[in-house]
Amino acid sequence: MFNANWTIPDACQLVEGELHVWLVDLELCRDQFQALWKNLSPDEHYRAERYFRLADQNRFVLMRGVVRELLGRYLSVPARSLEFKETGTGKPFVVSPRFFASFNISHSQDQGIVAIAKAGTIGVDLEWMDPALDRRMLTKRCLSQREREALRALPEADKDDGFLVCWTRKEAFLKAAGMGLSLEMSLVDTALIPGQPARLLAVNGNEEYARQWFLADLPAVPDHHAAIAAEGQNWTLRCWRWTA
Ligand SMILES: CC(C)(COP(=O)(O)OP(=O)(O)OC[C@H]1O[C@@H](n2cnc3c(N)ncnc32)[C@H](O)[C@@H]1OP(=O)(O)O)[C@@H](O)C(=O)NCCC(=O)NCCS
Repeated sequence: MFNANWTIPDACQLVEGELHVWLVDLELCRDQFQALWKNLSPDEHYRAERYFRLADQNRFVLMRGVVRELLGRYLSVPARSLEFKETGTGKPFVVSPRFFASFNISHSQDQGIVAIAKAGTIGVDLEWMDPALDRRMLTKRCLSQREREALRALPEADKDDGFLVCWTRKEAFLKAAGMGLSLEMSLVDTALIPGQPARLLAVNGNEEYARQWFLADLPAVPDHHAAIAAEGQNWTLRCWRWTA
């Protein structure tokens, strides 16, 4: 659900210790497709054209275009002047006009989330509650033993939500840590009860390391779940809805 207190800032300015989260309705950005496309780099055009499905291509272009617009506003530079690089596991970061601390994105269906911070390591995940999702198979493959037990204890009607809450929290952490597929999802332990505070319990059995991470659920549109993770504990979340 949307938090009714989401307000649009006067200026896009990052403050130490703040996590800025932008919820993007990609359907509403469709009219700007051409303008957003023009701001992409040749590499991004090449990548967009390699998507097999048109829907995936459109989503990539709209999302990358909005990220450029947003980061351009934060850095006071034209969106098209930004240059990105990727880590070995594919996590993009800004290298020009100057190193920009941190951003991460996630998209699912027609929704996207962009998280931005002045400093630190952050990750975000957004997932649509796909009715065709094979929860049982994914639970076996990707949840830790503790998570599987917690999920089993939930009433049947809450299990799909519980699973997705858990999944987005884990992915947000994995994306923050930039690990991608290099760490088994089942080695990340989270508290998963829907409605209860998000918490990273252990990573590969290490509880002390897990305590160094901030984890929170994000307000998302209906039938979606979203979470954010950041290294360190003293973070303040500020959320807005992107309007072009
Ligand atoms: C790469 C990965 C992070 C993408 O996740 P996803 O849910 O498919 O997609 P999302 O929409 O959440 O995120 C995609 C964005 O994350 C960013 N990203 C890509 N690799 C990343 C990484 N290693 N770390 C953080 N962010 C990454 C990119 O900006 C990408 O968007 P783009 O392709 O438009 O540039 C994911 O495939 C992955 O490795 N997850 C780790 C968890 C895992 O192992 N899952 C397997 C199931 S058991």
